[in-house]
Amino acid sequence: MSLALASALLGAPAFAQTPAGDALRGKALFDNPAQASGNNGLMTCSSCHGSVEARRATISQNTGGAYDPYANIEFGTAMTRLVAALQGQQAMAAFRVLTAQQVSDIAAYRRTRRRPILPTRRN
Ligand code: HEC
Repeated sequence: MSLALASALLGAPAFAQTPAGDALRGKALFDNPAQASGNNGLMTCSSCHGSVEARRATISQNTGGAYDPYANIEFGTAMTRLVAALQGQQAMAAFRVLTAQQVSDIAAYRRTRRRPILPTRRN
């Protein structure tokens, strides 16, 4: 992927200057991009991808890992995969209006999902 091209398409600074992502804002953007970004008409991410866990499993699998909804994905990987999808997937073209900050926020949310702690049995 050309970073210069990604920057041009996203109206964003180069990847090295990527703003730090905020996972809470990322969750709001993933759940309801239209409302959270102020761009009316954007579909929800889950309408195509089901859930953030499903996306995380796909990213893990596509970068050599297991299909694991709680895979440990680095921020940089989440960011690279999302930027590539925004550029390359025609289905996601509408989301090119997102700012660099919003893309970072979504990547941060993707990264920070943790495996749920199952209750342990006490005797
Ligand atoms: C209209 C359908 C659609 C919507 C809405 C959509 N996507 Fe996608 N997205 C796709 C398709 C199709 C692909 C390529 C196939 C795949 O990875 O499932 C893709 C790929 C991706 C990938 C690349 C995964 C990888 O590493 O291979 C990421 C990350 C992603 N989408 C995130 C998002 C996020 C975040 C949103 C919401 C802001 C979103 N998508 C909204 C259709 C959509």
